[in-house]
Formats: sequence, C-alpha cells, structure tokens
Amino acid sequence: MKIAILGMGSVGRGLLEMIDGKELGLTVTGIADSKSALLDPDGIHIEEVLIAKRERGYCGDKSLSAADVVEQGDYDVLVEVTPTDADSGEPATGFIKTAIGRGKHVVTSNKGPIALHFSTLQSLARKHGVVIRYEATVGGAIPVLHTLEHGLAGNRVLAVYGILNGTSNFILTRMAAEGLTYEQALLEAREMGYAEADPTYDVKGIDAAIKLVILSNTIWKRNVKLSDVTITGIDMLTNDALRLAEEQHCTIRLIAEAIPEKGILRVAPRILPRTHPLVVENTLNAITIDTDMAGEITLIGKGAGSRETASACIGDLLFIKDSHARGN
Ligand code: HSE
Repeated sequence: MKIAILGMGSVGRGLLEMIDGKELGLTVTGIADSKSALLDPDGIHIEEVLIAKRERGYCGDKSLSAADVVEQGDYDVLVEVTPTDADSGEPATGFIKTAIGRGKHVVTSNKGPIALHFSTLQSLARKHGVVIRYEATVGGAIPVLHTLEHGLAGNRVLAVYGILNGTSNFILTRMAAEGLTYEQALLEAREMGYAEADPTYDVKGIDAAIKLVILSNTIWKRNVKLSDVTITGIDMLTNDALRLAEEQHCTIRLIAEAIPEKGILRVAPRILPRTHPLVVENTLNAITIDTDMAGEITLIGKGAGSRETASACIGDLLFIKDSHARGN
C-alpha cells in the first residue's frame, strides 16, 4: 500500500524509522516537512531522507511543498502527522479534505482536525468511500479507539475518565519523585519530545481536553467542542501541594472525565490515593471506560513518544491495508 506522510517532527520521524525497519508492506511515495517535500511513485529511500533531515534540517526539495504531495502524490493513504493547531485545525484540515476528495484514506495523529471538524470529515469520507482513522490522537500507543470500535462493540458507554496527557503526568511524577520544580520537569519533557510544539497545551490541560472532546464525539456522537470542557491545568501547581498530598499517601494527577448523564465534561488536577488504578507514572496514560455490559475496562500504556505514536498510526494503516485486501 502506498502512503504519503505530512510532518517530520517526532511522530513523522518515528513512523519513518518503524516503516523502514519492519516488513509492513508500506511504500512511502511522498514526504513533506514545513520547508520542503519529496515525491517518488516508486518509493522513497527512507534512510536517506532521515539523514538529510538530521543533517540539514529539511527533508527534500525546497521547491515542493506539502500541498504538492497531497494534490499530486501517488498514494492510497495520506498520513497527516503535523503539529496540532487547536484554534483552526489548519493547514491539516485542508490537506485532509483534499486527500479525501481524491478518494484517499487518511490516518492522522493531528488532534486539531478531529476535535474541530469530526462530523464534517466523517461525512466527507463516507461520501468518497474512504475512511479517516485517528487512533494516535488519543492515548498515544493505547489502542483505545480500536477497543471502543471492536472489543466493546454493542456496549453502551456510560462514562470515560483518566489520564490523557503524558507530558503533565511526566511532570507530576518527576516533581513528586525527584523534587524537580515544574519548570525543570517541563524542560525535561520537552527535551524527550513528549510535549506539544506549544507545551502550554499540555500543562494548561488543553491537550487532555482536546482528547476528551475526540473521545466524547467518537463514543456519543454529540458534537461537543473544546469550549464545552471545564479546564484546569497543572501549571499553577506547587511542589508544596504535591508534598502535602504525598504526606497523606496520596498524589496529584490531571484527570479528564466525561459523564454525559451527569453533564460532566472536565479536566482538572485531582488528589488520588497512591494505590488508585489511575495513578500511573511518567508518560503513561490510563483510560477507564465504564460500560453497561463489560463494566469498567482500564487501559494503561505510553501516552506520548515518537515510537509509541508511530505504533498507533501503523495500527490504523495496517487496519486499512487489511480491509482493502478483504475488499471492504
Ligand atoms: N503532548 C502529548 C502528551 C503527546 O504529552 O500526551 C501525545 O498526544
């Protein structure tokens, strides 16, 4: 299956490394970063592109752009992994619409287009007989959307809650365990490539709220918006507050929760006993799905990181490839 990739940040590079290192049956025919692009219908030499990006800071030909890849590329699936813009969702949304209009499937890790334009993109995809998959937008490596779509099919979901931001969880863990200040821990998270291009999204609870919107609209099709979520971040949290919680055998975690029957849609720091199942460490995310038949299911896994996000994108790509092979 031929794919074109937009974005060569932490996620795009991780994805290319995994595709290069594994026999997945995926041929990359287009790649774009913010400054340049490459097109080759026979398949791009991935290792050369990764080296070029590392050594000179851009991946390909500066006279080509992401728009050229989307509009002219020879691909079956557009993989859109550029940074999230939660205000407009652009330019990613425009690229996704163009690809769908050309009859191409879409896999994305970009939360902007899905949080802002979910129903429009879904209807457009249906109209053109293609699919848009977005597992990597929520919970990093955790296959939460696959679980909801397949494993929990037929269940009524009553509530969903948990830790949806790896960076803030990493910061809280490092502050509590090592006594780092908030600024030191954030710097570390940025250096490790966990944080968003704009890390205020992580620490102000916006990233977790965006993921809660995506989960809510996927589960309940209610068309909720970011402005419907009550949001408090961890940016005002002090080492003293954490120390006080720890003295009571508790800790603080940034919890996102959606309980439609109670009108709850919020992200806020919460004090939890250290033994609580949602108290996970570092970049782990933990998501509890409460259902009528299965009861509570809690999924735990790495919520941020290059390979981890690549894992979710590859899961989506291979799902599309297998469905193609079955003629669905
Ligand atoms: N910045 C995000 C996080 C990356 O820390 O969870 C994954 O969406």
